Amino acid sequence: MRRLLVTLVLLGCAKPAEHPHHAHHPHHGPLVHRFEKADEWAKVFDDPARDAWQKPAHVVALMKLEPGSTVVDLGAGTGYFLPFLSQGVGSTGKVLALDVEPDMVRYIRERAVREKLANVEARVIKGDDPELAAASVDRVLIVDTWHHIPERRAYAAKLARALRPHGMIFVVDFTMEAAHGPPKHHRLAPAQVIEELASAGLAAKTVPSELPEQYVVVGQ
Ligand SMILES: C[S@@+](CC[C@H](N)C(=O)[O-])C[C@H]1O[C@@H](n2cnc3c(N)ncnc32)[C@H](O)[C@@H]1O
Repeated sequence: MRRLLVTLVLLGCAKPAEHPHHAHHPHHGPLVHRFEKADEWAKVFDDPARDAWQKPAHVVALMKLEPGSTVVDLGAGTGYFLPFLSQGVGSTGKVLALDVEPDMVRYIRERAVREKLANVEARVIKGDDPELAAASVDRVLIVDTWHHIPERRAYAAKLARALRPHGMIFVVDFTMEAAHGPPKHHRLAPAQVIEELASAGLAAKTVPSELPEQYVVVGQ
C-alpha cells in the first residue's frame, strides 16, 4: 500500500483525492497544489531508490557548472539536488534554492547546515515570480517542477531576464511514457517546453541524456 502511494505521488506529486478540482479539469493546465510537510516529502524526494533513474550527478554534469558561478534550483523541494549543485559551483559560487513552500525552505536551510553546504541560500518565492535580479544567474535547474508553474510563458520571460550572457535554463521533466510522474494529462511534451522557453527569446532544444524517464530541455 505504501509502495502504491509512493508511486502515485513520486515527484509528479499528484494526490487526486485531495485535489478534486483537478478531477473536474483534466486538461493540460499546470498541476497547482501545495507541498507542505517537507519532512514527509523528504521520504519520497530523497528516497535512495530515486537515484537509479534520477541520476543527479549526471544531470548536474550536463549543466557544466563552473566554480564561482551562480546556480538556481527552482522548486528545490527538500534539496535533493543541492549537494551536487553546491559542489559544482564550489566555495566561491552560490546556489539559490527557491521554492514557494515555506516549509521546504525551512527544511533546506536546516539541511544546508546539517550537510555543511555553506554556499546554499534558500528563499521563499511567489508562485508566479522567481524574484531574481536581472542578469544575476548563470544556470537555472528546474526538475519535476515546470509542469507545476502557471503562466509559463510569462514565467520564462522572468527567468530569461535573470540570466547572465551565456546563461542556461535546464528543464528536466517526465516523458509521457515514464512510470513515475504526475498524471499524464499534466505532463508536458518537450516540444511544448521548448516553445514556452522560445517565447521568452531563448534558443531551446532537448539535449541527449541518460535519464530513462525524463527529458532535458535547455534554453539559452
Ligand atoms: C515535485 S517537487 C520537485 C522538487 C525538486 N526539484 C526535486 O527534484 O526533488 C516540486 C517542487 O516545486 C515547488 N513548486 C511548485 N510550484 C512552484 C512555483 N510556482 N514556483 C516555485 N516552486 C514551486 C513545490 O513546492 C515543490 O517543492
